[in-house]
Amino acid sequence: MSSRVAVVYNHVGEDEYEKLKEIDPASLEFKPEYSIHVSTVQEEYDSVVRALEKEGFRARSFNVKDDLKALKKLLTRRPPDVIFNLVEHFKESPMLESSVAGLYELYRIPYTGASPFALGLCLRKGLTKQVLLANGVPTPRFKLLHDPVVPRRHGLRYPLIVKPAREDASSGMDKGSVVFDFESLQTRLAKVAAEFSPPYLVEEFVEGSELHVAVLGNDPPVVLPIIEFDFSELPDDYPKIISYDAKWNPLEEVYHRVHSVCPAKLPRRVEKAVEEICLKAYQITGCRDYARIDLRLDKKGRPFVLEVNPNPDLTEGVSFMESAEKAGLTFSNTLRMIVEYALKRRPTT
Ligand SMILES: Nc1ncnc2c1ncn2[C@@H]1O[C@H](COP(=O)(O)OP(=O)(O)O)[C@@H](O)[C@H]1O
Ligand SMILES: [Mg+2]
Repeated sequence: MSSRVAVVYNHVGEDEYEKLKEIDPASLEFKPEYSIHVSTVQEEYDSVVRALEKEGFRARSFNVKDDLKALKKLLTRRPPDVIFNLVEHFKESPMLESSVAGLYELYRIPYTGASPFALGLCLRKGLTKQVLLANGVPTPRFKLLHDPVVPRRHGLRYPLIVKPAREDASSGMDKGSVVFDFESLQTRLAKVAAEFSPPYLVEEFVEGSELHVAVLGNDPPVVLPIIEFDFSELPDDYPKIISYDAKWNPLEEVYHRVHSVCPAKLPRRVEKAVEEICLKAYQITGCRDYARIDLRLDKKGRPFVLEVNPNPDLTEGVSFMESAEKAGLTFSNTLRMIVEYALKRRPTT
């Protein structure tokens, strides 16, 4: 009999992308390159369910809606054979993402993706960087600050980038994230601190290309075709970064000015170095099943890991799935493989 998969996610409040449906692209002040009618949150989860059904699983979706009792009910009354874990936060806290996975552990239900440990580690970007460095994986030089203050002689070389150390999905990243002198560094830190809790990361800005590297599987994991970002169409006064708007907001021009190229056209030597580093980062941080590693190359083509993303976005055609498709896998094939990795961890007693 085919396995029963619960596609578990946590979404509360309105679906922001629903509103985009009413907007006429012609009403924007710029010419959008990509469709502004991106899938809604609901459509995305539905597409995962449909793809899993296509692969022969009995799949259904379950929105936790911050309701612990409802989640417990799912896990205890006729629990699914496996959970496709798409929960990224609980009660608005990304730090509780790992606790939700902990609950699956306690009820001994196999689930896709990373363990609570890896989820918790990778969300602590500063700690992850320390762990990577200790294991010989290069990452940009940085200071981890518990208060939004930094001495003038901090020892880092400008330009610098300031980010909240425990957020993901480009939260807090905008036009002002990159700073060129001490005064703007202080101002930026104060601004980030007004919005996000500590700690904060101040990091040397790596000026070369940005690469996103999808890693799939376990024994052994494999690197899928690398994505490189082309920032050349961004306005001159906009930093060459994937800001929040560039990543998520189709109503902003920058969303339409950052392009992905896959497979990246890299010298073989650089590609090999990137692959090695990514596999090492995946293993050191305890990633499992699938993950995406974000890197930048410096002017000499040397790679530096920015962060490790366990359980990255699986939207069809973009990011992780763009790489999977370039590797010859379909959306549904890839999802099936991820479910199968989790099913292998089914407890035997
Ligand atoms: N040290 C850095 N050098 C250059 N760009 C950076 C650096 N750190 C972050 N960025 C830019 O900011 C974006 C978001 O930062 P990242 O560390 O990947 O966090 P997240 O994606 O979780 O928000 C990256 O995709 C990259 O464009
Ligand atoms: Mg990132």
